[in-house]
Amino acid sequence: MFEIDPNSQSNLNEVATLHVHLDLAVEFACSKLSGTAILELQALAQTQQVVLDTAHLTIKSASLISAEGASKALKIDMGTVHDLYGTALRIVLPGTMTKDSTFKIAIEYETTPKGGAIQFLVPEQTLGKKHPYLFTQCEEIHARSLFPCQDSPSVKISYSASIRVPKPLTALMSAIATGRHDDGGFSVFNFEQKTTIPSYLVALVVGNLATAKISDRCAVWSEPETIDACAWEFSEMERMLQTAEELITPYQWGRYDLLVLPPSFPFGGMENPCLTFVTPTLLAGDRSLTDVIAHEIAHSWSGNLVTAKNWEHFWLNEGWTTYFERKIVARLSGEDARQLSCVIGEADLIESVEFYGKDSPLTALVPKLDGVDPDDAYSTVPYDKGAHLLYYLEQYLGGPVVFEPYMRAYINEFQGKSIDTDDWKSYLFTYFGKVDPAKVELLDAIEWDKWLYAPGMPPVKNKYDEHPQKVSLDLASRWLKAADKSDYVQFKPKDIEEFSTMQRVIFLSQLAEHAPLKADTLDAIDDTYKLTGYQNCEVRFSWLSLALKSNYMAVVDAVIDMLSTQGRMKYTRPLYRLLHSCPDGRELAEKTFARLHGFYHPICARMVEKDLGL
Ligand code: BES
Ligand code: ZN
Repeated sequence: MFEIDPNSQSNLNEVATLHVHLDLAVEFACSKLSGTAILELQALAQTQQVVLDTAHLTIKSASLISAEGASKALKIDMGTVHDLYGTALRIVLPGTMTKDSTFKIAIEYETTPKGGAIQFLVPEQTLGKKHPYLFTQCEEIHARSLFPCQDSPSVKISYSASIRVPKPLTALMSAIATGRHDDGGFSVFNFEQKTTIPSYLVALVVGNLATAKISDRCAVWSEPETIDACAWEFSEMERMLQTAEELITPYQWGRYDLLVLPPSFPFGGMENPCLTFVTPTLLAGDRSLTDVIAHEIAHSWSGNLVTAKNWEHFWLNEGWTTYFERKIVARLSGEDARQLSCVIGEADLIESVEFYGKDSPLTALVPKLDGVDPDDAYSTVPYDKGAHLLYYLEQYLGGPVVFEPYMRAYINEFQGKSIDTDDWKSYLFTYFGKVDPAKVELLDAIEWDKWLYAPGMPPVKNKYDEHPQKVSLDLASRWLKAADKSDYVQFKPKDIEEFSTMQRVIFLSQLAEHAPLKADTLDAIDDTYKLTGYQNCEVRFSWLSLALKSNYMAVVDAVIDMLSTQGRMKYTRPLYRLLHSCPDGRELAEKTFARLHGFYHPICARMVEKDLGL
């Protein structure tokens, strides 16, 4: 129903799903899942139909299951096909359901390889090279290609599942594992997620997986080849989780496990409940990239407990989470680290606004997404504009002493619910009206329409502490001055030895603002700091971007290497775009993509195709 959620075709105003049970068998030979989805539904109004979202599913049958377990076949219609939002599955009920009545529908179905939710990997694409692997990624609107559902975050469901996989593989889900048993050459894994979640948080992974315990409620999972490295890199996760609990409220999901995926995982991390998915590019060998973990942990509150009602309000998930992430970072590594992260966020926002254009509707904090593919609308805007607004409010209303009690009250008020920006804003007024009415005047003076609905940069700039980035900016300006006189001998590897990852990134992005740099300057920078082949992927990516912006083709092998060994969109898309716009890079970018197409996740491949105009 487009009024509640512009990106779903379900009749959200007439029915709500309460619980889903998935009973699925994994068939690697034909890259599909097959089985049954049982939906427990409630009528919200008198209705004679249930309309579910599907995309690239083969639906075999639908039946009504009575309280006694008897099944009655139902008529289905799949005539409504939307370009972006998939095929509506209309199930005709045998009579009229009265408001509030509950009923159960079983749908027999199969997935097809065309769906965007599942990536199947052949053994050669795994570290172990012996077993196939699959993982799902449902956010934002891909759950509909995993199972027929009301694929809208306005609907919250509990779920259970029974997943049959060939031995010796392991299945894990965004839920608590409740048991496993053998069935000939197969293992059957059972799961239960009792806390209600939106469809986009249903997740599954199947592969040859090993685990290492971090604490009583935390473990890491990966292929056996990397499990020791993962356990070392993420050994701080329990401490981070505790920090988040001290900052916000007690953790409510039981376990917090981490799954490190194969390199084609298209995101840095995905906050699947009980089991965060992360890219292996976080294995920096120095625990320096764990802010992604802080981010995914924070989603256990913002996003997973308090959920945006539809994708237009995505900033309520990501803006709040980015804000929390930086508060966690501040508690663990100091306020300087938070200030640096804010500065980087602001630079990213400026870049996004430039990329889309300052008048582009997609740069509004709350964009209109009717007729838009959420994959196309994805950018750092909801993250950094959202976090910018919350930081602004924190400072404006009296600092953390005032704002921290508010943010806890906000989570308590809305946990378990799906909300929109109006709900958020009106609670902000209600809360401060109660605790400190003088603040309401301050709130009234805010230019809300500009903050929430206008495109471009936010109406007010935040003041961040300039001090922690000063060393980076100073070093960058020394390089820029030296470039005039080719006076490079003054620079030594120790210049950046004491820098944090973020300070190194700021140094390089500052130089990139002055790109193109001359080849001899870039030669000298690389000679001094050995950036080509740098293990930390944030630093390596910043360096390669600077080099490509300067048309410095000496890095081409390193660029191709990064494009062939990981498929995280944050790096892969810009690297292709930059290579493609180098005078000598266009053909190479296209050839490389043609060769690596099958390695990337389908969403990543589709986005790169669009970026390159293929
Ligand atoms: N929930 C997002 C990932 C996502 C968003 C997947 C929209 C699909 C559609 C996740 O929490 C996230 O934001 N990941 C970031 C990392 C973060 C530190 C900014 C990423 O993947 O880069
Ligand atoms: Zn996020």
